[in-house]
Amino acid sequence: MIEKYPSQTRTHLDLACGTGYAVAHFEKHGYQSIGVDASVPMLIVGRKRAPNLVAGDLRTLPLRTTFARITCLYDSLNHFQTTEDLVAAFSCVRSAMSADSLFFFDVNHPDIYPAVWGLRDPYVSTGIDHHLEIATTYSRREKRAHGLVTGWVKLPNGERVAIREAHTQRPWSEDEIGECLRAAGLDVVEVIDFDPFQEIDTVDAQGVKLFFVCGRT
Ligand SMILES: C[S@@+](CC[C@H](N)C(=O)[O-])C[C@H]1O[C@@H](n2cnc3c(N)ncnc32)[C@H](O)[C@@H]1O
Repeated sequence: MIEKYPSQTRTHLDLACGTGYAVAHFEKHGYQSIGVDASVPMLIVGRKRAPNLVAGDLRTLPLRTTFARITCLYDSLNHFQTTEDLVAAFSCVRSAMSADSLFFFDVNHPDIYPAVWGLRDPYVSTGIDHHLEIATTYSRREKRAHGLVTGWVKLPNGERVAIREAHTQRPWSEDEIGECLRAAGLDVVEVIDFDPFQEIDTVDAQGVKLFFVCGRT
């Protein structure tokens, strides 16, 4: 996407930046990049990778400037449960965009929730320095997916940290996203079927992720 949509102005904002992977990636491509995330522990880890990370909620962005490219990656927007939250986040994005800016983001394809989050067996990853289990459920009636992440990880200093986190995601259809974008003054430039793990042949789904490119209306 960086190559497909080259920009003269090399400023980039990554929303829900987590531990700063996209910020470091855009910096490698010559961008001045800033990341925002609501999780201070994620930012503490991320600052070792990219120094320009700040704490903030992407529904109330603490920024007063514009960026040529804005990203929000790895299904972060599926954490929002209501259209109000999604429109609030998109409105903040719009306020940080100039006429030439582009906003790139992905959401999970809605089919992924019954097909993958609905699986009975948990995802398990184990090694000498970690053990991770992600048990997921999907309720068609509530249209909500729940994930419980448990396990432990050994830090480089030898300390063992227990993990127990509960997450809820909401599937968003392409049409629902389109309506929220329009309500916030954004237009879709293109939507791409995106399959980062090449798993489409192994799951009962029409798609894995939807990747949106948007500009200001
Ligand atoms: C799936 S992770 C993605 C992290 C990163 N984008 C990546 O690709 O590695 C989701 C991130 O969204 C952040 N997040 C969730 N809700 C948020 C909010 N309202 N404002 C800012 N960050 C939020 C979480 O703290 C977490 O770091």
